[in-house]
Amino acid sequence: MALVEARAWMEVDLKALWANWRFLSARAKGEVIPVLKADAYGHGALPLARFLFQKGARRVAVAAVGEGRALREGGVEGEVLLLGSLHPLEAEEALRWGLTPTLSTLEAAEALAGRARALGLTPRAHLKVDTGMNRVGFPWEEALPALRAVEALGIRVEGVYSHLATAGEDAAFVEVQRRRFQEVRKALGEGYFYHLENSLGLLLHGGENVRVGLALYGLVPGFGLKPILRLLARPTLVKRLKAGDRVGYGGEYVARGGEWLATLPVGYADGLPRGAVAWVRGPSGALCPVAGRISMDQTTVLLPGPVGLEAVFEVLSPDFGPTGLLAWAEARGTIPYEVAVHLSRRLPRFYLYD
Ligand SMILES: Cc1ncc(COP(=O)(O)O)c(C=O)c1O
Repeated sequence: MALVEARAWMEVDLKALWANWRFLSARAKGEVIPVLKADAYGHGALPLARFLFQKGARRVAVAAVGEGRALREGGVEGEVLLLGSLHPLEAEEALRWGLTPTLSTLEAAEALAGRARALGLTPRAHLKVDTGMNRVGFPWEEALPALRAVEALGIRVEGVYSHLATAGEDAAFVEVQRRRFQEVRKALGEGYFYHLENSLGLLLHGGENVRVGLALYGLVPGFGLKPILRLLARPTLVKRLKAGDRVGYGGEYVARGGEWLATLPVGYADGLPRGAVAWVRGPSGALCPVAGRISMDQTTVLLPGPVGLEAVFEVLSPDFGPTGLLAWAEARGTIPYEVAVHLSRRLPRFYLYD
């Protein structure tokens, strides 16, 4: 049943999010940090941050200073960790908005300390340690001198973390990184908040303090997690095709004649990956094949029979079936992360809990 007076919209199931969160929290030995970067992988960072803090999350993580600032401007007061390695030019903004930056260079640490002095603020940060990803972080073998150098600048290092490069792909290398991280922990001692695993790291290998995105959004099959997002649309036009009618750009679909066609007001600008959405679920639950190319704002589908313009189609389903996000990603030859982060902000999103 449609709850909404709109022609296209997204529904985010907060109850399912909460169930995913509880499942992950039971699996982790320590804290679960929700990763809300890229607008919570397209699900909407601000409402999710508000919800998760209200449910007892101790902190959330985003990537960029601007994402942290948007949470603050939206009234989020809790701890916000910036996962992106701080650029010296961002130090002041991170301080002013009370965000916790990640340091992986001394240049950034010096900028943070310098700006904090000028503003009369206490600089706090997490230290990123590179245990094998070779992207950002102080080399793990040099973690102790790096920590000393950063602390000598007057920065309060509250956490130390690393990131797994091969969770779900190469278990042996996950173990290498975990051993290196343990070495770092031994060298630096307790008194810091250590965190390492991501979704697949936690689900496949266990973990203590973890940062999870994909699993929180239920986009990992096989563990009882549930996707939390549906995309729904009502047709703007329903008609019967004549034999030889061609549909959409390139006229790729050629009608046999007599088919019913619905035009849905969502397209690749709403996040539907071109060439990768084969089906939508019709009002009766039947799978309706996409006919012709997906346009920027519209998608045409074949129907078993006529429907009215009030009918609701499930374009993206919260499951692992043919209308789910994983099916889109697979057909597109990409990872679910990439499809999720392109879910559009232009559709209204409704956050449901019942
Ligand atoms: C540093 C860091 N930690 C944690 C995550 C969360 O990863 P996942 O969505 O696989 O749980 C990411 C996402 O890429 C990340 O960059």
